[in-house]
Amino acid sequence: MSLPEKTPLLLNVNGEDMEVLVAAGKTLLEVLREDLDLTGTKHGCELGECGACTVLRDGQPVLSCLLLANECEGTLIETVEGLADKDRLHPLQLAFAEHGGLQCGYCTPGVLMTAKALLDGNSRPHRSQIREALSGNLCRCTGYQQIIESVEHAAAAINAPAKAGS
Ligand code: FES
Ligand code: FES
Repeated sequence: MSLPEKTPLLLNVNGEDMEVLVAAGKTLLEVLREDLDLTGTKHGCELGECGACTVLRDGQPVLSCLLLANECEGTLIETVEGLADKDRLHPLQLAFAEHGGLQCGYCTPGVLMTAKALLDGNSRPHRSQIREALSGNLCRCTGYQQIIESVEHAAAAINAPAKAGS
């Protein structure tokens, strides 16, 4: 049996241009995890139902399990690995750690990326807007209340006036 033919694909992931040889039909999720070793994006249902595989494409949340990698050429992909600014965690990451927004963490990368897109567009979302934005991200452990509250804490941190010297 012959192996599927691979073709070069140019992707920009977390601000970095990269070329990867991709077998026809591979999803973005498979390319991120298997070819680029970016395993922060989680592999859940592969049916578009759980949101664990959510990444941002041109700033919008997409389900990477449903997206062919070659549909992403020329777009900007953001994954959870790009969320922190070097050693500085994103306010969402800090809030989730401090306010019980995660337990097993399997859903967390997808939730964080969905929440990032929300806060990038609206840094003061109403609770109902947070619920609506995260309605496609399923969590089996922590309970949605802590997730919603973590997003609210992150929004408050983003909107807090910067401290002198920080
Ligand atoms: S793995 Fe993509 S939606 Fe579940
Ligand atoms: S923290 Fe375990 S699935 Fe959400």
